[in-house]
Amino acid sequence: MPPRAILLTGGCGFIGSHLVDALLEAGHRVVVVDDLSTGCRENLNPQAGFFPMDVASPALSRLFARERPELVVHLAAQVSVTRSLRRPALDAHTNLLGTLNLLECCRRAALRGHPVRRVVFLSSAAVYGEPAYLPIDESHLRRPHSPYGLHKRVAEEYLSLYRQRYGLDSCTLICANVYGPRQRPSAGVDGAVVPSLLARLGRGRPGVIYGDGEQTRDFVYVEDVARACVLALERGSGGATLNLGTGRETSINRLHSLLAGLAGVRAAPLRRPARPADIRRSCLNGRRAAELLGWEPRVGLEEGLARTWEWWQAAGDRGR
Ligand SMILES: NC(=O)c1ccc[n+]([C@@H]2O[C@H](COP(=O)([O-])OP(=O)(O)OC[C@H]3O[C@@H](n4cnc5c(N)ncnc54)[C@H](O)[C@@H]3O)[C@@H](O)[C@H]2O)c1
Repeated sequence: MPPRAILLTGGCGFIGSHLVDALLEAGHRVVVVDDLSTGCRENLNPQAGFFPMDVASPALSRLFARERPELVVHLAAQVSVTRSLRRPALDAHTNLLGTLNLLECCRRAALRGHPVRRVVFLSSAAVYGEPAYLPIDESHLRRPHSPYGLHKRVAEEYLSLYRQRYGLDSCTLICANVYGPRQRPSAGVDGAVVPSLLARLGRGRPGVIYGDGEQTRDFVYVEDVARACVLALERGSGGATLNLGTGRETSINRLHSLLAGLAGVRAAPLRRPARPADIRRSCLNGRRAAELLGWEPRVGLEEGLARTWEWWQAAGDRGR
């Protein structure tokens, strides 16, 4: 792909900052919109342009007029399932109205003669709800259990509508559990599991496991997800919706044991009651992404966790 002007929302976050690095490395001009609600400035490569802004703000339209992006990647989101249950309107503000605002900016840019060639959107396995079968493929029924999953799903539908009505090309990537360097534990109870475990194991204490620990997730390394986004910008045309997962289930017990091994913690994990909202098993079938984008995960779990642990140690307090 020749160098392009790319606007990326959520570029100061965990996944976004890795994608910014990959896009800059490939020679693109990158402009980031982020309100720093969960992301941080130090994640962001200084070669990227930065606009501290709410993605739902009317000012986004002026930014589009000035920067004239040819491609857009939309990652800015309220990412906590628990927070979405407590404050659904807050989730809707970013995940629904923010997405709609962004799509409207793309539509108006085309009217001004500066069309956006494609929007790549990161959705979540939360759109599927409780799986009826595993690994989940893209034709699986979508019955989200939370406002987060519901708003992601409606955002996907909006992308589809804008493609049909206004010819705005898009590609949706539905991610499994992403992990890797720069992922920080959140203050909420449903923070991502890898940094939540590391926050304790890194201090020599056993991690906390909810329920019997035999619940499973599909862990995909952040650089693999960033690479999928780059491929989707290049080739993900026609409104494709693609799962990004390894197709492998890993139990939380096994995850704890791998991380405890890296951290040298021998004590057994602490057990807490199961959380009712937790899905029992999950993993995504990534065959369609392999066919359409030529994408396959390259970094296996043990390798990815070792890299994450290395970063965690080097980051010190910045990682907490
Ligand atoms: N991490 C995962 O396992 C995972 C799985 C599936 C999907 N996703 C999706 O990937 C995307 C990135 O998630 P992440 O894990 O990097 O989380 P993150 O919290 O690190 O990144 C989200 C970024 O969006 C920014 N943001 C939030 N609200 C905003 C707003 N109103 N205006 C502008 N910026 C705003 C935050 O400051 C942050 O930098 C999200 O869309 C998320 O739903 C993540």
